[in-house]
Amino acid sequence: MTRTLIAGNWKMNGLKASLGEIRDAAAGVGRGKAGVEALLCVPATLVSLAAEAAHGSALKVGGETCHDAESGAHTGDISAEMLADAGASHVIVGHSERRTDHGETNEIVAGQAAAALRAGLTPIICIGESLGQRKAGETLDFVSHQIAGSIPEGAKAEEIVIAYEPIWAIGTGEVASPDQIDEVHTAIRSRLAERFGADGAALIPLLYGGSMKPGNAAEILEVTDVNGGLIGGASLKAADFLAIYGQAK
Ligand code: PGA
Repeated sequence: MTRTLIAGNWKMNGLKASLGEIRDAAAGVGRGKAGVEALLCVPATLVSLAAEAAHGSALKVGGETCHDAESGAHTGDISAEMLADAGASHVIVGHSERRTDHGETNEIVAGQAAAALRAGLTPIICIGESLGQRKAGETLDFVSHQIAGSIPEGAKAEEIVIAYEPIWAIGTGEVASPDQIDEVHTAIRSRLAERFGADGAALIPLLYGGSMKPGNAAEILEVTDVNGGLIGGASLKAADFLAIYGQAK
């Protein structure tokens, strides 16, 4: 059965003063529930503190990007090994904000995902089209191309997570409709089946991301081939994050 993952993405938000939200989220998640994982990906400065705050609960902590090298002369960058050392279990790679702000290509993202696997982290590989691409009818071709290029050679199905985040739905309050999500997630699953076989593809959690919140989570999570969410704004408050987690099966 495909695992379900409810993952928060704090982006460039959060100071030590925000650790109370992590503690509250950890308390709410408690020992967790069968088949559903809870994760908060936080800025690198908070990974170790968040891991301490979540200790003893089933809540996991992740990073938001990593460099492909293990160490070296890359001022300001963070390696996957460093995130693992700080207590992370996952790392987001290829978020559209990284692709846009830092020019990260599919090739770079594949290198980051390979680094995550090398360090024993689960990469959450993000893909998703722009509004222009959707209007031009290019969505399925574009995300298929992103999948082909962003999953590293040699990755095993059980080690990776894919997040479909239409760029026009991120932080805009505009959510993709269940039909739109269904169409893309079905296409993603078939691309993955071509690469990993149907049994392998079935092991890969496919998350939806883009303005997911407590009020729309149930409808999104019910869509076939949706195995969880990558949640930005609504993950900053433990109460909202837990309200979404509570609806996941
Ligand atoms: P949002 O962000 O939930 O604030 O739209 C999602 C994301 O970018 O991961």
